[in-house]
Amino acid sequence: MKKIIALNLKMNLGYKEILDYIKTIQNKVTDNYEVIFFPTSIYLDLFKKSGYLVGAQNVHFENKGAYTGEISPYQLKSLGVDYTLVGHSERRLHFKENDILINEKVKGALKNQLKVILCVGETDEERLSNKTYSVIENQLKNNLQNIDLEDVTIAYEPVWAIGSGKTPTKDEIDEVVSFIKKKVKQENAIDIRVLYGGSVNKENIKDIMSIESVDGVLVGSSSIDPNYLISMIDIID
Ligand code: 13P
Repeated sequence: MKKIIALNLKMNLGYKEILDYIKTIQNKVTDNYEVIFFPTSIYLDLFKKSGYLVGAQNVHFENKGAYTGEISPYQLKSLGVDYTLVGHSERRLHFKENDILINEKVKGALKNQLKVILCVGETDEERLSNKTYSVIENQLKNNLQNIDLEDVTIAYEPVWAIGSGKTPTKDEIDEVVSFIKKKVKQENAIDIRVLYGGSVNKENIKDIMSIESVDGVLVGSSSIDPNYLISMIDIID
């Protein structure tokens, strides 16, 4: 199986900038990895029509209804969207998404054949009080309750590493990723893929991708400038 490069553009870039972005990456995206773009939802169709794998950054749990401003998994699927992120720490923090809601979202997405990348990870405070493993264990247990995990990938994103320029060491990443795999295997008897996310850049991508347990990366800031992105992927291609 190819390793994954998932690109979370978050809430960045205007319409004209996205058109330029897509032009800049044309014929430059490698086939050696499963590259998936997670742009703001209004641009999903542009990436899809240009032939890329695409994912939403967020999804509602119901297929339809009176939920002003939300996008349903059914709607995403009908657009040809392949993936959705669920439980990103920015959703947990700024939009107060709790474990029950996240579990519902994973279920709603899978029911519509959207593949899910579930984000888990500890805050700085939790890390400093040695709670990393218990926090992640709880997130896995609560977010994945009663779910068939075949189309689920986990992204280990330590909250303190996101947008901070700080990353765990290779050994630390390996330890947590291996822990996640072991836990999921114990509970669900399935081998799950696990990505690493948090301040991935040109300087560290080669090291991180070389960790055997790591099945890919979830990249934020380093995906916003398309020229930087292409030169970063070139390093590992
Ligand atoms: P940064 O790469 O900007 O740290 O963001 C990571 C992230 O949140 C990806 O989902």
